[in-house]
Amino acid sequence: MGSIAITNGTLVDGAGTRRADLLIQNGVIAEVGEKLDGDTIIDADGLVVTPGFVDLQVHFREPGGEEAETIQTGSRGAALGGFTAVVVMPNTTPTIDSAAVVRQIHDLSIDALCEVVPSAAITVDRDGEALAPMAELVRSGVRMFTDDGVGVQDARMMRTALEYASGLSHLADGFEIVLAQHCEVDALAAGGAMHEGEWSSRLGMPGQPAEAEELMIARDVALARLTDGRVHFQHVTTARGVDLIRAAKAEGLKVTGEATPHYLCLDHSAVASFDTVFKVNPPLRTPADVTAIKAGLLDGTLDAIATDHAPHTRQDKERPFLDAPPGMIGVETAFAIANTELGADIEKLVELLSINPARIAGIDDRHGGPIEAGRPANLALLDLDEQWTITGAALASRSSNTPFEGRSVRGKIRHTIWNGDLVVTNGEATR
Ligand code: DOR
Repeated sequence: MGSIAITNGTLVDGAGTRRADLLIQNGVIAEVGEKLDGDTIIDADGLVVTPGFVDLQVHFREPGGEEAETIQTGSRGAALGGFTAVVVMPNTTPTIDSAAVVRQIHDLSIDALCEVVPSAAITVDRDGEALAPMAELVRSGVRMFTDDGVGVQDARMMRTALEYASGLSHLADGFEIVLAQHCEVDALAAGGAMHEGEWSSRLGMPGQPAEAEELMIARDVALARLTDGRVHFQHVTTARGVDLIRAAKAEGLKVTGEATPHYLCLDHSAVASFDTVFKVNPPLRTPADVTAIKAGLLDGTLDAIATDHAPHTRQDKERPFLDAPPGMIGVETAFAIANTELGADIEKLVELLSINPARIAGIDDRHGGPIEAGRPANLALLDLDEQWTITGAALASRSSNTPFEGRSVRGKIRHTIWNGDLVVTNGEATR
């Protein structure tokens, strides 16, 4: 692999914003300076150079759901979206709940275009009945546990998982293992296909109340306090959910939260189209909730933007609304949506898409860090002003269930460099 010089770019990372050239050699940033030269030169005039993005929540469907996505196609989309690392969710077939399946994920990721970081289930088969073999999973490299797709319903099970996880840091170089929760109380949400409110009444559709999410956030805040454990709240969607996390942080509890691009610009009125592309779990909420999610991201209550990239085949999404599976794709469009809709400057976006998620996932030794000599070369080069129109069929994902079809957005990934390898150049994947 020859060296790469990135010239004339504007660097944005946790250390601030500055003009400098970069030289990348043997997978690492060899030099940051002036007038640097390399075997390949990327003229980054007018572009922003940031640490590569980190997605805390993707469903790449492998093993078991390859007709909707594979690690290869999902990671190609992620690289095109500026991500150099993604945390894959364990709701695969089989479930990622043993070291053997973690190894399988690593084997399947051999040709991926970004780092694929397996999370593992909190409970065996994600059915809430028995704790997964967490120590074995941490030894195999897992740092984040989640039953995503469902929440851990039983408070005692969640308490035990938090207590157990707290005792596993010695197997993880001191890193505090994080339990990520999909907050949804089944007793309230079961059977609901959208948010319970004005639009579910108008459409005669069974709904899921906001309280289904808020009750579990409140419970897990209490359990974080009780156990001194680390909880990460996945895809938060409600204003009161944001308030609960804000209060928990003010108290000093070890909690973090994320929002997805769709919750910061779509609301439940979209379901009036009966288009199943707008069916997602948790459901699209009210405009007031959308406003609160954005405020939560901007004031630091929510730490990260994660996509919850959830591909589904056309056949599955063509089922009637009540039967269709929930989920939307998002890795390739996340940056553009956030850049267009959030009202944040690029420094804040880098924090939400790179610095904070890398820290939460425990991969900040190689992602989300400062752009400086000696660091692994995981970078995204962005054009903040390029205007483009999202078309599902043009995205790299094997599925095309984007809720942003036809939407005009601003901001495009020009190049992505992962471990010194140019995996995306001029907006095209190199493999
Ligand atoms: O809408 C969703 N789809 N939410 C989830 O939490 C799971 C995901 C999926 O796996 O399809």
